[in-house]
Amino acid sequence: MAGGVYIDQGQARHYDGNVTAFVLVTCFVAAMGGLLFGYDLGITGGVTSMEPFLAKFFPSVYRQMKAGLHENKHENTYCKFDNEILTLFTSSLYIAALVASFFASATTRILGRKPSMFSGGLFFLAGALLNGFAVNIAMLIIGRVLLGFGVGYCNQSVPVYLSEMAPAKIRGALNMGFQMMITIGILIANLINYGTAKYKHGWRISLGLGAVPAFLLCLGSLFLSDTPNSMIERGKHEEAKAMLIKIRGTENVDDELQDLIDASEEAKLVEHPWKNISQPKYRPQITFCSCIPFFQQLTGINVIMFYAPVLFKTLGFGAQASLMSAVITGVVNVGATFVSILTVDKFGRRILFLEGGVQMLVCQVAVGVMIALKFGVSGQGSFSKVEADVLLVLICAYVAAYAWSWGPLGWLVPSEICPLEIRSAGQAVNVAVNMFFTFIIAQIFLLMLCHLKFGLFFFFAGFVLIMTIFVALLLPETKNVPIEEMHLVWKSHWFWGKIVPASSRMASPNVLGYNNRKP
Ligand code: BGC
Repeated sequence: MAGGVYIDQGQARHYDGNVTAFVLVTCFVAAMGGLLFGYDLGITGGVTSMEPFLAKFFPSVYRQMKAGLHENKHENTYCKFDNEILTLFTSSLYIAALVASFFASATTRILGRKPSMFSGGLFFLAGALLNGFAVNIAMLIIGRVLLGFGVGYCNQSVPVYLSEMAPAKIRGALNMGFQMMITIGILIANLINYGTAKYKHGWRISLGLGAVPAFLLCLGSLFLSDTPNSMIERGKHEEAKAMLIKIRGTENVDDELQDLIDASEEAKLVEHPWKNISQPKYRPQITFCSCIPFFQQLTGINVIMFYAPVLFKTLGFGAQASLMSAVITGVVNVGATFVSILTVDKFGRRILFLEGGVQMLVCQVAVGVMIALKFGVSGQGSFSKVEADVLLVLICAYVAAYAWSWGPLGWLVPSEICPLEIRSAGQAVNVAVNMFFTFIIAQIFLLMLCHLKFGLFFFFAGFVLIMTIFVALLLPETKNVPIEEMHLVWKSHWFWGKIVPASSRMASPNVLGYNNRKP
């Protein structure tokens, strides 16, 4: 292949090179960041259902749970766990992550991806140790805030790192690999909770064990190399070339290097990414970068991820059965994410979104009806063994639907629709909106369960209906569309075609690092 470059039917440039072992090892270490995020998402649910933990830090919740009564005289099951400090323990992480992601984006740009990942690892390590050794609520909450900083730093830098290190042909799979690591982290957390719950200090092991992957991430990121893109951004062109040769496993990297340099030069001309993104021609991007993370959280998934054991206990499952149920939903989450990775480039994004939406809707309505019939408004009742099994199957079907639709696509679609000149702003909006609504759901779920009762499931079902219609009407298919041709997708869309000014083009192909120089 002359010059190591060819142009395919879609006019996207392909570079020479292989998937080297060096890239795979590097990406594995970096993906620890996803695993840590998942671990923190999954660990609190089980811990907050452990009695020794509640007795030590939240004695009033413990008493009301034991008595089956709520201190505010809501004498019903739905309110057993409603306590603001208990929810603050879960949700403080996400507000800290939101704040940190803004600092992280500056660190990542100015100092490189590696220092960001290292800082993320250190925050995780400190947070996990503080939580594991906590003797009072302050240590718990400060530990959670530090973990939140870790999430902010890693969620900002790891996806960028992975997509810059990866050869273009496996970029999509690696992007989804990050979500896969999140779900594996959640599952590991569920398993550890299941194992430690029987011990008096089991919660310390659950919270403290997060230090192990955090330590690996710190150690690993000391040895990781920074990405060629980041080196170029910081003016180190020679080092960038040497790195490209190493990660692509070929000397033939001049075209890719030149494109990276061009893209970086053009990006420097973009003085105001925030002003840029508010231009009319970027209306579709700003709409999806804010609506997709909002809707992702309004599927209600984190009710299951954070509070499954508490929810199952509320519905009358025993302590071990509740933790086991969380493990089962965790396994379904990992498996269905894998289904998404296998099908997304074959069947496309829309079909996964639409099928997932309908399946989630049906399951949520069914769960709501079952709980309404059994517990009613008074909250008195319990499920038989068969009913409990049916409920678990419905919840698993809901988790599966989420995990092959809004889970991975919630991160993939916003990242692939933004041209370079608005990519950092678009990604910042996406992460910030996601963290904000993760925080809101974590903070108000127990309160909502107490007041909306079984209606909570209809509340989320209503949002799933809206988001499914939103996708059906407004999201064009982006499967196999080269990034530099994405503007055609908006122009030919029945709605966006009217909104995006006819004269607008996306940035020149050069800006996107895919210039069309002849081979
Ligand atoms: C979401 C998390 C969620 C996880 C569940 C992620 O895409 O951002 O909030 O807990 O999926 O697998």
